[in-house]
Amino acid sequence: MLQPNQVLDQCDSTNDLAKKLAEEGAPHGSWISASRQTLGRGRLGRRWESVTGNLFLSIVVRIPDRFLWTWVPLTTALGVVRYLSLTFPKLELQIKWPNDLLLSGKKVGGILCESSSTSIVIGIGLNCSHAPSSPEFQCTDLSSAHFEPITADSIRMGIIGSVVQEIDRLMLKGSAQSESEYWRWAVLKKGTLVQWGEGHESGVILGLGPSGELEVETDLKEKVALFAEEVSLRKKPQNQNDFGASRGGGGYSS
Ligand code: BTN
Repeated sequence: MLQPNQVLDQCDSTNDLAKKLAEEGAPHGSWISASRQTLGRGRLGRRWESVTGNLFLSIVVRIPDRFLWTWVPLTTALGVVRYLSLTFPKLELQIKWPNDLLLSGKKVGGILCESSSTSIVIGIGLNCSHAPSSPEFQCTDLSSAHFEPITADSIRMGIIGSVVQEIDRLMLKGSAQSESEYWRWAVLKKGTLVQWGEGHESGVILGLGPSGELEVETDLKEKVALFAEEVSLRKKPQNQNDFGASRGGGGYSS
């Protein structure tokens, strides 16, 4: 039987193993990690490059109040940046809603939460020493920004402790704390111009809704809620008439 709280040399996906652990009754806060993954996966069906040197970690959490489940990805991101920023204060860390981790504006990690009827598996991938090349994102890694090696082994337990602490706080105090803390790290702030739906739609961020969704006012003044879409910064228009004219256009995208 698979034992929780260990680092394996290799596996398909730590999220799959953590799901198995959860089914077998592993308690809240149990985790599994691997030095590399052969079938690492990311959000929206993407592949997650998983070579030795980076951190691949999955944590089982059990949250009785299901209304809080949608806050888990963002709360996890807070746990990760809180730990990293306390340990390495010079790193310029940000969270890009809903759960991308950015370092100096480039993607350094991501979070993939998958739920069953009784538990959530939180998958965390962090680039410690290797920045994958990706057509979709500009990536970086912790060690290059720190100018000294930051290994997966040196940060694993700190990340687990910090994430579980944030989740416990969510369970105890509700989502208000996660929401207010989020704005401190957010790339997508209130009033930011954004685009989504492959750049076909755009608007301005109003805030977060009760489930942690991104509330946006479209260029047509409609209020919409985005739950898991890929949202990116939109270039400021040259003048008012340019609104809506930059379909598929550039701007920040990660
Ligand atoms: C993203 O798309 O940004 C989320 C990436 C999540 C990757 C992690 S690595 C550990 C865990 N196991 C997986 O297969 N995926 C997650």
